[in-house]
Amino acid sequence: MAGIFGRGHTGTTAPAMPPQAPVPAPPVSEDVETMGSPLPFARTSVPPEPLVVEQPAVAEQPLVVEQPLMDGAVDEIGVAVVLGPTGRPVQHFPDPRPVTGPTHARVISMCNQKGGVGKTTTTINLGAALAEFGRKVLLVDFDPQGSLSVGLGLNPHEMDLSVYNLLMERDVRIDDVVVPTGVPGMDLLPSNIDLSAAEVQLVHEVAREQTLQRVLAPAIEQYDVILIDCQPSLGLLTVNALTASDGVIVPLECEYFALRGVALLKTTIDKVRERLNPRLEIEGVVGTMFDGRTLHSREVMDRLVQAWGDKVFHTVIRRTVKFSDATVAGEPITSYATASGGAESYRDLAREVAVRCLDV
Ligand SMILES: Nc1ncnc2c1ncn2[C@@H]1O[C@H](COP(=O)(O)OP(=O)(O)OP(=O)(O)O)[C@@H](O)[C@H]1O
Ligand SMILES: [Mg+2]
Repeated sequence: MAGIFGRGHTGTTAPAMPPQAPVPAPPVSEDVETMGSPLPFARTSVPPEPLVVEQPAVAEQPLVVEQPLMDGAVDEIGVAVVLGPTGRPVQHFPDPRPVTGPTHARVISMCNQKGGVGKTTTTINLGAALAEFGRKVLLVDFDPQGSLSVGLGLNPHEMDLSVYNLLMERDVRIDDVVVPTGVPGMDLLPSNIDLSAAEVQLVHEVAREQTLQRVLAPAIEQYDVILIDCQPSLGLLTVNALTASDGVIVPLECEYFALRGVALLKTTIDKVRERLNPRLEIEGVVGTMFDGRTLHSREVMDRLVQAWGDKVFHTVIRRTVKFSDATVAGEPITSYATASGGAESYRDLAREVAVRCLDV
């Protein structure tokens, strides 16, 4: 069966072999057989040279950073390179340095108009991991579904004030609406279905796209990072989030259909940058729900790296049911299953975000 990514992929990791001339097969040395990778070209009558590493120091102490996540590779001097799930060499990012001096928050939107790709999960857990590293974090639930608020244990029917009041009522101040979460150093601006009315009512406002930016302004000097969880659409609420942001992180499920909407999202981001917010940057695309056992996840990752290059985060979030369990428990995975792979992945993402986006 042909692969979904066009010609060349036939359901195995090997590229299609070109038709071979009827050359008698040369004796295949054991070294080649044990390298494990398919021969990329038609065989010639010259048997391939075995790979000889001359420096005993290198041979005796192979550079093994960690268990390879995918097929290994060798660099130009023949040293083994461990490839990560994005198909690029694994990178390790240091723990963020402690914050010293006055703070000025970087505002980052989690945005993807496709539903169910991991925006809310990434907002909660990246925020919690950054808080673990000593950052003061504000999460903004900017989705009328209120999943972020529910995921942090709030009851949507028992909110006195929500982001809706902050946007629509001039005498409501941000401090009146912010609530602490169970995570030390992480606060929340909660939301519920009321926010859907704001999308309609804001249409009649002056400078409607800048409303969120205006109400968030007093929080900029109080937090190190503000993460906005967007709804799955590119409507006025999302444009407000992008206008209020310095950067965008695009969570993207490692699944074929998820790739299809990213071009449209990029067009929207470009338009907001041109017309409303020149400082808006795409911080990166983070692959979520990755399953390294399937060729499909790896092919999606390959495609993503081809299209977005370095904008793809090295950190990838693997698929695990622990995330759903943590949501039911109303807490981040970093506290619900603190030693789990999912928690570690979001700590890795926090380290990478700190280096790429927070300049620490
Ligand atoms: N890495 C993961 N592994 C397994 N399940 C996950 C993972 N990330 C998220 N999920 C689950 O997938 C579902 C959708 O995730 P989430 O709510 O974060 O997506 P979303 O993009 O915010 O959705 P929406 O567009 O509806 O706001 C949730 O049930 C969540 O628990
Ligand atoms: Mg969501």
